[in-house]
Amino acid sequence: MSAAMPPYFDHVVVEEAAIKERVAQLGRQIAEDFAGEDLRLVTVLKGGLFILSDLCRAIDMPLIIDFLAVTPYEQGRGGVVQVTKDLSDDISGASVLLVEDVVDTGLTVNYVLSMLRRRSPKRLEVCAFLDKPARRIADVPIAYTGFKIPDRFVVGYGLDLNGRYRNMDCIVALDDEAILP
Ligand code: IMP
Ligand code: MG
Repeated sequence: MSAAMPPYFDHVVVEEAAIKERVAQLGRQIAEDFAGEDLRLVTVLKGGLFILSDLCRAIDMPLIIDFLAVTPYEQGRGGVVQVTKDLSDDISGASVLLVEDVVDTGLTVNYVLSMLRRRSPKRLEVCAFLDKPARRIADVPIAYTGFKIPDRFVVGYGLDLNGRYRNMDCIVALDDEAILP
């Protein structure tokens, strides 16, 4: 057990070794599927930073990475997010893979996808490292999934609770009491 772990963790959901193995598999598959294309990996800060960093090195081809940051406009107004940091590069005509740490309700990805679609990429796909289908509201097309996990609040490998625990190298579920305000 690492000192970076929260004291109130319940169980490990995805081990470090399983993360590494899955990232390598996804990288090989993505390199094959996008061979010869102008590939852009786009992620949403801050959570997506970790999977993006590992995944881009598992994709053995030239590519460009870029970042977005969003915050929900208002609690309770599901699906409406404010873009606080936009992409650095134009994506028109490019093949864009939106890499998300977790897709839960799907509202965030749905919003980001519709925003990116308006910029006329040649191709736009989603890679969800974690997929929590139980709470899905928006039907998002996910081309690449790392792991489907049950409806539990998890932290580690980019995922946080109040900003902490992103730096854990595995993904753990927390006790329910930890999440209550
Ligand atoms: P959405 O519900 O699919 O829009 O997900 C919105 C955001 O909620 C994700 O990008 C994460 O930042 C956060 N989120 C969802 N589930 C978890 C979790 O289990 N742990 C930490 N953050 C989560
Ligand atoms: Mg996030």
